[in-house]
Amino acid sequence: MIFRQLFDQVSGTYSYLLASRRGGEALIIDPVLEKVDRYLQLMRELDLRLVKAVDTHLHADHITGLGALRDRTHCITVMGEQTKADVVSMRLADGERLTIEGVSLDAIYTPGHTDDSYSFIASDRVFTGDTLLIRGTGRTDFQNGDARAQYESIFGRLLKLPDATLVYPAHDYKGDTVSTIGEEKAFNPRLQVKSVDQYVELMNNLKLGDPKMMDVAVPANMRIGFHQEVIARRGWAITAEQALAMMCQRDVALIDLRERSERERHGVIPGSLHVPYPSLQENIGAGGMLHELAKSTSKRLLFYCAFGERSAMAVQAAQDAGLSSASHIQGGIDAWKKVSGTTMPYAVPPLTNATELGCGSIRPT
Ligand SMILES: [Fe+2]
Repeated sequence: MIFRQLFDQVSGTYSYLLASRRGGEALIIDPVLEKVDRYLQLMRELDLRLVKAVDTHLHADHITGLGALRDRTHCITVMGEQTKADVVSMRLADGERLTIEGVSLDAIYTPGHTDDSYSFIASDRVFTGDTLLIRGTGRTDFQNGDARAQYESIFGRLLKLPDATLVYPAHDYKGDTVSTIGEEKAFNPRLQVKSVDQYVELMNNLKLGDPKMMDVAVPANMRIGFHQEVIARRGWAITAEQALAMMCQRDVALIDLRERSERERHGVIPGSLHVPYPSLQENIGAGGMLHELAKSTSKRLLFYCAFGERSAMAVQAAQDAGLSSASHIQGGIDAWKKVSGTTMPYAVPPLTNATELGCGSIRPT
């Protein structure tokens, strides 16, 4: 496994690059905007293709690199479902698994530092964001922080992991790089409390000043969404209402760009082909399945995803590949559900034959 811990000295932030092999897919956790060039250089040197960029929570002390990495690599941006960031491509819930080729992370919801904080477990290690730091814990006095919730996240979730589990936090200001769950249980001064009330008392009396970047970073990090209106202005977007009305048109090929886990959880639009976003490029290039479908039939490609982020990027990529009929459903299946009130359960086998596309019965999930 390729594993790199990268440091931003200005904000004291650790970012983590993970991949299973040279030449394969990569994922980055908590990237910092000012370091994006460095990450991209490293990925070029290691021959890695970034497919997912993840933030453990909405940061107050630095501007996230998620938007810049998405714009420059077309990767999928990921956060927890509680986030107030305007739109990220993929939102995870507690217990969901985040995967790239050869690497999988289990997401656990660990609120307290913020109400959108997640930790990610990868076999022998856990990425704790600002929930659990080395000999410290993340402050709980802003961004809907809650010391009681943090106590539950730490004592009820993180400290239940095996003692040997490596702890990789999002920050350190003392020069420590890694710890273990057992070490933090024994030596973290914030965890030497006898009750949740004692922890709350401790956290509510830290008397910390606001982070230097807070007024800039929080609003900036809430607006990392891809500008779907740019795609709409070019005439490449349709609304969920229009998509619903087009369901019986046989000249439309609906393409679901989400991952299997999202399809299982949220259902699908009947009659969709499944082309996960990371495999888009090979499908829209000459000889690719979607390229041939669009060129050899009169079908118009209509992409959708969770919120319209990945599909907007897919439309741009398809148009760049010469597929001028490509468009997407603005707002994704989230908007579709609001209009139609339903999706089809994933258990219905996805159609793979383009000739079968068209009307489908709509059943509730
Ligand atoms: Fe934070």
